[in-house]
Amino acid sequence: MLTWDEEVKPSSQNTTAGGSQHNHAAAVPSAFEQPALQTVASASAAQVAAAQPSASAAPYQRVNAADKRIINAKTDVNQLVPFKYKWAWEKYLATCANHWMPQEVNMTRDIALWKDPNGLTEDERRIVKRNLGFFVTADSLAANNIVLGTYRHITAPECRQFLLRQAFEEAIHTHAYQYIVESLGLDEGEIFNAYNEVKSIRDKDEFLIPFIEAIMDPDFHTGTPENDQTLLKSLIVFACLMEGLFFYVGFTQILALGRQNKMTGAAEQYQYILRDESMHCNFGIDLINQLKLENPHLWTPEFKEEIKGLFQKAVELEYAYAEDTMPRGVLGLNASMFKSYLRYIANRRATQIGLEALFPNEENPFPWMSEMIDLKKERNFFETRVIEYQSGGALSWD
Ligand SMILES: [Fe+2]
Ligand SMILES: [Fe+2]
Repeated sequence: MLTWDEEVKPSSQNTTAGGSQHNHAAAVPSAFEQPALQTVASASAAQVAAAQPSASAAPYQRVNAADKRIINAKTDVNQLVPFKYKWAWEKYLATCANHWMPQEVNMTRDIALWKDPNGLTEDERRIVKRNLGFFVTADSLAANNIVLGTYRHITAPECRQFLLRQAFEEAIHTHAYQYIVESLGLDEGEIFNAYNEVKSIRDKDEFLIPFIEAIMDPDFHTGTPENDQTLLKSLIVFACLMEGLFFYVGFTQILALGRQNKMTGAAEQYQYILRDESMHCNFGIDLINQLKLENPHLWTPEFKEEIKGLFQKAVELEYAYAEDTMPRGVLGLNASMFKSYLRYIANRRATQIGLEALFPNEENPFPWMSEMIDLKKERNFFETRVIEYQSGGALSWD
C-alpha cells in the first residue's frame, strides 16, 4: 500500500497527461472557442459563472490532472481521467471487490435462537434491539448525507466515483438491518422509530443532523473560507465521528454475541458492514487530509478547537449509548470498558486527521476486536476478507 505521502502526490504521468493541451486549445478554430460541455460541478457561484457561455468565456481546453481539486475545482467533473487522486480510485476498486448482499447470509440459526424463550437473556435481546434501533436509520442518514450533501460539493471525479459506490453500500447496510428485523420478526414500529423514541439514539442523531442539513441546503455553496470550513467540518463529523466512532459500540456488541456463537447470521452481516464502514472511514480521512493539503488556510487554531470539542461531545454521546444498551455487564462486556475503547478510537481518529490525541495513553480494552478490525490492521483485514469473500468462504467465529 502507498504511504500517505505517496498517495497524495500526483504521479508524474498524471501531471503531464494534459500538460500540453493549453497550446493546442489556443490553436483550434474559433467555432470551438466555447466553454466545454461540463456539468456544473458543485454549483458554486464561480462554477455557475464558468459554465455560462459569455463573451469572456475561456476557450475549450482538455483537463489537466494537476488542475483537479477536491473542492472548488474548475476542471470538468464528468472526466474521470486523467487521474490525480489514485488513492480514491483504488479505494473504489477495493469496495467493489468487497461486494456482498444481505440475503446471502443464512439467518436460520438466529431465527431459532431468537424464538427460543431460553435462547438469549433479556440483556442480550436489549442489545440486539437497541443496535438495530440505531442502525436501521443511521445508514439512511449516511446515504442522505452523501447523495444530497457531500457529493455535489466534491469536484474530484475519482472521489465522486467512490461516493457513488459508498451511497450504494449504505443502501445495502439499511437493507441488511431491515433483513435482520424481518427475519427475527421484530416489531418494525419499535425498531424504526427508535431514533425518535429512545433518548440515547436520538441524542446521537440530533448531534449529526445539523451537519447534514448545513451542506444539503440548496443555498449552501463552497467557495468562501467559512463555507469551506462548514463542508470540512461535516466531512470530519461523518468520517471520524459517525462512521469512525458512533458505529463502534454497536459493532462490538454484536460481534461479541457472534464470538459466543449467538446471532451468528446477524454477526456475519455486521462484519461485512464493518469492513465497508472501515473503508468509508479511511476514504473520508484521506479526503479530509487532501482537502486540508489543498486548503491549509481552513485549518486554523479556532477550527481545530471546534473539532476537538465535537470529538469530546461524540465520545460522551456514544458512552451514554453504551450505558443505555448495557445497564448491566453482559457478554463479558460492561459499559465502563467502552469508556476506554471510545477514547482509544477517538485518539486514533484525531491523529489520523492531524490533531493531537485527546485522551493520551488510552489502551484498547478489546484486543479481540483488533483481530477482526484492528484500527491499525484495517488494511490487512480487508485484504483477508476480500479473498475469502470472493472464494465464497464463510466467516468464522472461532
Ligand atoms: Fe453504512
Ligand atoms: Fe458508511
